[in-house]
Formats: sequence, structure tokens, C-alpha cells
Amino acid sequence: MKTKNLLITGASSGIGHETVRFFAARGWKVAATMRNPKRAGDLNNIPGVAIYTMDVTQPHNVEQTLEKAWQDMGGIDVVVNNAGYGALGIFEGAGDEQIIRQMDTNLLGILRVTRNILPLMRQRGKGTIINVSSIAGRMGLPIYSLYNASKFAVEGFTESLFYELHPFNIKVRLIEPGPVKTDFNNRSKDEILPPDDDKYIALSQKATHFYNHSFKHAAKPEVVARTIYRAATSKTNRLRFPAGFQSWLFLLAYQLLPGSWFRWLTRFLINI
Ligand SMILES: NC(=O)c1ccc[n+]([C@@H]2O[C@H](COP(=O)([O-])OP(=O)(O)OC[C@H]3O[C@@H](n4cnc5c(N)ncnc54)[C@H](OP(=O)(O)O)[C@@H]3O)[C@@H](O)[C@H]2O)c1
Repeated sequence: MKTKNLLITGASSGIGHETVRFFAARGWKVAATMRNPKRAGDLNNIPGVAIYTMDVTQPHNVEQTLEKAWQDMGGIDVVVNNAGYGALGIFEGAGDEQIIRQMDTNLLGILRVTRNILPLMRQRGKGTIINVSSIAGRMGLPIYSLYNASKFAVEGFTESLFYELHPFNIKVRLIEPGPVKTDFNNRSKDEILPPDDDKYIALSQKATHFYNHSFKHAAKPEVVARTIYRAATSKTNRLRFPAGFQSWLFLLAYQLLPGSWFRWLTRFLINI
């Protein structure tokens, strides 16, 4: 089988890091991009993996890195938009900087990478773009408003591209993990401090307690890497790929229950 090439963003840790290892172990050549190549760690020693600098909030950096990786590898079969950031907390407490960074990283970053890779894939007559969303791209959750907004936008953008790119043999996929055991909460989470109001503070504490509990049963990053691999190698036109047991459970409940019941259940479970 001909070797295939993958480019991924946010490969310095978590799901991105594990995905690089997963694909390289199956013979793929991988362009592992990250803001700071000093964080590549063991990826430096894996055959077939090349490290590139890419900050998805920097348009010129995105353009140059994609061009270089495309030339170095002689084309890219699959792009995985994985880089992510979460400004989590009561919306009213959010600063402009947090709002902008949330959208810049999770949404605009994907738009930049996609816009730059599309002409190359279109000329080549094939390609796959995989966007790492979340169950938070399908359902609104308390204290996740900004993150929800960014991931809902990713879902809508990707679903629209599904139709636009169909004539060009370019596939698009959405990966929808539930909680995953990565360092996201320490390195990629920005806590929005609640305004000084007892009701907000209580709600924020209860929601945080609930999420901390569900993170105890979070999926391993390998589970998401395997799902990304399935999405990359699938011959079907399937758009959405949930990842992990909790993702399947929440998405099933969300689809089966009437909206008002699901929201009641969420409030009941969080006790708000
Ligand atoms: N963990 C979960 O429970 C979970 C659930 C659903 C979806 N997700 C999604 O999965 C993806 C990966 O998250 P993770 O859990 O693996 O967390 P993570 O280990 O914190 O990974 C996030 C990665 O994004 C990178 N990044 C942040 N801003 C960037 C920028 N401007 N340009 C390039 N890279 C940037 C970080 O790089 P630095 O090393 O430079 O900070 C880091 O490598 C995210 O899109 C996240 O929303 C995670």
C-alpha cells in the first residue's frame, strides 16, 4: 500500500500527540505541527514524523507551514484540525481577550488551515479534512458557553463544507469526543471567574463538581486517536464520529429525549 501523509495541528500534547504516534505506528508520514517545537518530546524520535511550527492564530505562519509540509511530503492526504483552547466559566464574567482567543483558536484556526489546504487538495483531486469538535459542539452545557459557541460553529462550518467539497472528492469529518484524559484542564483551559453573585458562584461550583466527576471516567486519548484513524481511512461519506463511551451515551440521550426532558435531566444531574 502507498504511504499516506497526515498533517495535524496542536500535536504537542494530549489527543494530538497520541494521534501522531497512532498514525506513525501504522506507517503514515506525519507532519506534527505545534506552537513550540521544543514541546515535541518523544515525537522527535519517531520515524516518519517531522515537526513543524504552526500557531493557528497566525495566518502567515499557517500559510507558510502548510506550503512547506505539502512540498516536503509531496502532498497531504489528511489534515486534522485538533488545536484547541477552552475559556470555561460563567459567560458574564468573560473578558474580551478570552472571547477572542476562544474563537481565534477553535474556529478561525480551523478556517485558516482549511482555506489554505483546499486549493491544493482540489488540484490534486482528493483529500480528507478532519475537525476535532466535541459533544459540546452538539449540546449546550452550563459554564461552557464560549467553548460551546466555538464548537457549534465548527460543526456548522464542517457540515456545510460536506456539500461544497463533495464534487471534488474531498471528504470532511467531525470527531466528537466526550471527556478525555488529557492535560486540557491544566494547559489549555482558562478559568472565567464568576461575577460576585451567590447564585452564579453556586451554579459554577456545582457544574465544576459534576464535570470533575465525569472526568474521572474520561476516555484515554488513544480512543480518540483510533476514532480519528477510522475517520481518516473510512471509505464512506460519514460526517460525524463520536469518540468514547460518554460521548455515545450523551449523544444518544440528546437525540432520543425531547429537548425539554434532556435539559431537565442535565439540571437534575448537576443539581441546578
Ligand atoms: N480533553 C477533552 O476532554 C476534550 C473533549 C472534547 C474535545 N476536545 C478537543 O480535543 C482537542 C485537543 O485537546 P486535548 O484534550 O488533547 O488537550 P491538550 O492536550 O491541552 O491539547 C490542546 C493542544 O492545542 C494546542 N494549541 C492551543 N492553542 C494553539 C494555537 N494557537 N496554535 C496551535 N496549537 C494550539 C496546544 O498547544 P500548546 O502545547 O502550545 O499549548 C495543545 O497541544 C481540542 O480541540 C479540544 O477542544 C477535548
